[in-house]
Amino acid sequence: MPKLDANVYVTRAIPQPGIDLLVEACARVGVNPHDRVLARDELLVAVRGRDAVLCLLTDTIDAAVLDAAAGCKVFANCAVGYNNIDVAAATARRIAVTNTPGVLTDATADLTWALLFAAARRIPEGDRYTRAGRFTGWSPMLLLGADISGRTLGIIGAGRIGTAVALRSRGFRMRVLYFDQVQNEALEQAVGAQRVDLDTLLRESDFVSVHVSLDATTRHLIGARELAAMKPTAILLNTSRGPVVDEAALVAALRERRIAGAGLDVFEDEPRLAPGLAELDNAVIPPHLGSATIGTRTRMATLAATNLLAVLRGETPPNLVNPEVLASAPDGIAQE
Ligand code: GLV
Repeated sequence: MPKLDANVYVTRAIPQPGIDLLVEACARVGVNPHDRVLARDELLVAVRGRDAVLCLLTDTIDAAVLDAAAGCKVFANCAVGYNNIDVAAATARRIAVTNTPGVLTDATADLTWALLFAAARRIPEGDRYTRAGRFTGWSPMLLLGADISGRTLGIIGAGRIGTAVALRSRGFRMRVLYFDQVQNEALEQAVGAQRVDLDTLLRESDFVSVHVSLDATTRHLIGARELAAMKPTAILLNTSRGPVVDEAALVAALRERRIAGAGLDVFEDEPRLAPGLAELDNAVIPPHLGSATIGTRTRMATLAATNLLAVLRGETPPNLVNPEVLASAPDGIAQE
């Protein structure tokens, strides 16, 4: 197949199979040479004159960036979440936005359970204890944690990832509650999950796990009031987006032991942490690793590239976030 006469930019190195797809198909492919997020002024320059951009959740793609990329047909996000992109502004400019759902569901659900275990059984705390040379022998009262089997798991947002997290509870004979705008019959049938309102879920769950996408309606969905509704023995898990939880309120609740613990893979102002969070023993805080497996990141890279190439070829990409751009482009997506 002849190469597309297209000028493509990748905002940071991604697994090679994703880059290879682009290089095989397009005449010009530029990749950020630095192993870091581009500064804003660098991003504004880098997107200029491109036909397509493959970007990451750490890139803020707002109206100014979209204007700098005038003539660009697609911003292909290498992430399922796309709160980093002003989709309305992209749609207004007839720029397609794509994301990478599905391929990271299992990895993110697995990591959620890793956090659940780590927080409930105090694994990082115990690991630090051993390394510090403080382990002087088995002790009946050493680092007692929370039971997991037979307890109640509350899922906030029973979409792809929330459902996958809930299904993994089967081995642990758990009661599953979920809060979602829509009923999830498959989940109800699979694990007997019960759909409840948010307050009931917070009041009755031993583990509260957040799986909503970030938008104006979910920012600070879990704040001081919601944390106060949780059991003092409960553990909060967040592998969605940091701003869904009011991190300052969470630090206060953890410090005062108003809830027992938290497992957070995401933070309100990444990569910064709310003051006090890093000092808390009852918080487990990996650096946004939900999808960080070799296989998953490779699938995300190739899916993002596939989405991007589909738009350049005038086809409907597998994961188009703003299908309205189709309606405004009679001859395919954002064709000139
Ligand atoms: C990761 O956080 C993603 O949205 O893919």
